[in-house]
Amino acid sequence: MAEEKKKRDGFGSKLGLIAAAAGSAIGLGNIYRFPCELGNNGGAAFLLIYLAVVIFLGIPVMLSELVIGRRSQCNSVGAFKRLAPKSGWPIVGYMGVLCGFLIFAFYSTVSGWTLEYIVKSVANSFQGKDIKALEQDFADFHNMGWRNVMWQGVFILLTGFVVFKGVQNGIEKYAKVLMPVLLVILIVLGVRSVTLPGAKEGLAFLFKPDFSKINGQVLISALGQGFFSLSLGMGVLITYGSYVKKDDNLTSTAFSVVLADTLIALLAGIVIFPAAFSFNVNADAGMGLVFNTIPMIFNQMTGGYVFCIIFFVLLAIAALTSTISLLEVVVAYISEELHIKRQWATVIACVATMMLGCFASLSLMDNTPFTIGGKTVFDALDFITANVMLPLGGIMIVIFVGWKLGKTKFFQEVTNDGAIKASLKKIIFFIIRYLAPVAIAIVFISGLIK
Ligand code: TRP
Repeated sequence: MAEEKKKRDGFGSKLGLIAAAAGSAIGLGNIYRFPCELGNNGGAAFLLIYLAVVIFLGIPVMLSELVIGRRSQCNSVGAFKRLAPKSGWPIVGYMGVLCGFLIFAFYSTVSGWTLEYIVKSVANSFQGKDIKALEQDFADFHNMGWRNVMWQGVFILLTGFVVFKGVQNGIEKYAKVLMPVLLVILIVLGVRSVTLPGAKEGLAFLFKPDFSKINGQVLISALGQGFFSLSLGMGVLITYGSYVKKDDNLTSTAFSVVLADTLIALLAGIVIFPAAFSFNVNADAGMGLVFNTIPMIFNQMTGGYVFCIIFFVLLAIAALTSTISLLEVVVAYISEELHIKRQWATVIACVATMMLGCFASLSLMDNTPFTIGGKTVFDALDFITANVMLPLGGIMIVIFVGWKLGKTKFFQEVTNDGAIKASLKKIIFFIIRYLAPVAIAIVFISGLIK
């Protein structure tokens, strides 16, 4: 035990946790999934609910996870074992590990596309094409199933490589520098997008809510997207929280991460919708929305060639810092609970992900046999994780902190044993204990009933 403890890796500096948590949060969920969900769920009304979710539920759930992680200093399963010995609570951890694996399996598909699009942008293959031609290219690419699988494999390998090397040498180093650069590029893109002809309509779609569009489906999608985008409900932040010592300010970490993540998602919306309306891409075009619209914006920009390459490289890196967190949850569990060497745990998890993940990729071909209950494997994995498992995990996590761990220990943790004030602690604990479980349950059930 003592030896095991000594060997446990951790983040090197105070910035480490914020960088890694923001790295996990910011990813394809913001730039790819958020615009898709917003487009499919009627626009601004979805945005409003989404914002409510991230502020009122995102921050408390995130803080709950960090508290569980840092207090236990354990992986997401071990954490519950340690804080609630001989109870059923570790199930929450197991569900999280499973969920991480399932998300990684389909998330790596889209991550693979970012690599294909880096190659395409270097080869200058968007140049001079109109939106119809880009859409055709995108569809053709999907039908090259094995090419998707190949890129997916490359991406899983990349992720495995970083996780293999461990927390401090791997995760932390990559996350710190690159996210600010992504922010700058998005701002440049946003400026171009809103100045395109016809951009106004896109902005109206994004910001002028039509409340009649709100229904159970919109609610649950916004809830799922909130959890997905912030990496909540499956133990990423339990695991990352366990890598810090007592001097991090967990509350301000949660605020910073939520703020950064939301900012990037909003920016992505401002980039995508004005341009999509300008180029006549349907807002509910789904997968193609982002991957077709963005190259098209670059086509309309001086220096677009270079910017486009940089953009897809950064998108790949944003995806990478997210897949790292997904894999890390699984690897921390396998290595610490099943006592398998970290390196082997990484190999096992990557191979397993590849085996399931290739079906997610192949399920996007025309006439694919790989469907579950009428959905492609890809969509089924997305739906069951984001809209079902994450909210369920989130509910259990807040109930755990609110009712099992309790106020005293929660306050100890957020104030670093009284060293800092954490002035919002009472209100946040109230939300954790009463509001969050009820709110998540209502939204969740209203979505199931629809
Ligand atoms: N949040 C990431 C994104 O927006 C994806 C992600 C990483 C994730 N880890 C997660 C989603 C854990 C849910 C749970 O791209």
